Amino acid sequence: MKKCAEIAIIGLGNRGRDVYAKASKLYPDKMKIIAVADTDPEKTALMAMEYDLCEGACFGSGEELLKQERLADAVIIATQDRQHVDHAVLALEKGYHVLLEKPVSPKLSECVRLAETARRCGRMVIVCHVLRYTPIYRKVKELLDGGSIGDVVSITATENVGWFHQAHSFVRGNWANSEKSSPMILQKCCHDMDLYPWLADKTCESVSSYGGTYLFKPEKAPEGAGKRCLDGCRAKEGCPFDAESIYLDNKLTGFRRGNRGWPLNVLVPSGPTEEKIVEALKTGDYGRCVYHCDNNVVDHQVVNMNMTDGTTMSFTMCAFTPDVARYARFMGTEGELIVNMNVQEPEKCGLVVRRFGAEVTEERIDVMSLSNDFSGHGGGDQVLTEEFLDLVRGEKRESAYITSLDRSLESHYCALAAEYSRTHGGIPVKIKEFV
Ligand SMILES: NC(=O)c1ccc[n+]([C@@H]2O[C@H](COP(=O)([O-])OP(=O)(O)OC[C@H]3O[C@@H](n4cnc5c(N)ncnc54)[C@H](O)[C@@H]3O)[C@@H](O)[C@H]2O)c1
Repeated sequence: MKKCAEIAIIGLGNRGRDVYAKASKLYPDKMKIIAVADTDPEKTALMAMEYDLCEGACFGSGEELLKQERLADAVIIATQDRQHVDHAVLALEKGYHVLLEKPVSPKLSECVRLAETARRCGRMVIVCHVLRYTPIYRKVKELLDGGSIGDVVSITATENVGWFHQAHSFVRGNWANSEKSSPMILQKCCHDMDLYPWLADKTCESVSSYGGTYLFKPEKAPEGAGKRCLDGCRAKEGCPFDAESIYLDNKLTGFRRGNRGWPLNVLVPSGPTEEKIVEALKTGDYGRCVYHCDNNVVDHQVVNMNMTDGTTMSFTMCAFTPDVARYARFMGTEGELIVNMNVQEPEKCGLVVRRFGAEVTEERIDVMSLSNDFSGHGGGDQVLTEEFLDLVRGEKRESAYITSLDRSLESHYCALAAEYSRTHGGIPVKIKEFV
């Protein structure tokens, strides 16, 4: 049997601790946590307790961990967007393989720097495009590769961010301001820029884009809105973005409705209780009025993509949707394939193939039969982690390479070119020239 992969984790937030560290419990024969690092001592202490790590295995930052001689086979980097490349470059130079959270970087030059370092050091960098690993999109890939609808000529795709998800992550939360994190089209939609061209086996040649922040700004605040939801706001009644309503009463996210996971574990990493949530809402970022935050990322954006083979894709990202879901329609020379992927409510997923003929035939694929576990990005988190571990252990070669750095960067180039277009009046941008 191949040895257990020895892993270091840098960044013990929602992804590092709640997703990747847990893999060592799910696959104890495949993953052993050797060292962890975070600038927040509470998070390293929690990890030490949960995973029985000694003091010497816990570091006060990624930089400190990476100053040591190589401690493990691979490192998982789950810090914030603008820190990824510095941490990954240090790790590669120390000889680690790297599992790197997306986006690689909001800076084009940094993406290129990392690709060059990876080549020079001869180590693997796998980027966490988790959707490629989900059972539903693997089925779509199999159908499209098998020619089920002929040649794909046009794709329409929508990312339904979800009204409360937008408010949590992109208005009040970590990714609200592109100067501190990344533009929305990269941060959220590098998945889409990656996924659909990969599914249809296309390469993007040029893009154009429009979009902006329609709602979440002071001039759109209802009369009487305060700076914080729990501070006597007079517009609280009937406001869908009221923090108390989202974090306590909402059917999917509310503590009083039984939720104990995301997004409550972001507010209270040590484990949510009603008292601690209320305290976080009174004092922290997540209790701020959505009309009075320091956000600048868009709440709606469209991107048109022209592919190298003359086919096209039209993509819409929008905050104002009830579901957190991705809808896509592939139109081919012999039929169409429609896929709806709902991250939080998998029973709402759908996959249909309709083929042309004397009578249009329709095949409905039972998505729920594709897996027993749709948790964590529709099942993608787990499969990606396990395949990365297999790769590090030398057990698997091919499949995990589906999100190698070079492939991932194509999506980043598209997203950054789209952002350039959006901020320059929607001009068409040729990817090769842009890069
Ligand atoms: N693949 C996906 O689908 C997916 C989903 C969500 C988030 N992400 C990405 O994952 C990354 C992490 O997101 P998150 O939600 O876990 O964020 P988070 O803020 O919860 O976690 C980041 C952690 O990094 C720590 N940190 C900051 N500076 C550090 C340093 N110098 N050394 C070590 N640790 C440091 C912070 O204290 C924090 O605990 C982000 O880049 C995000 O875009 C990817």
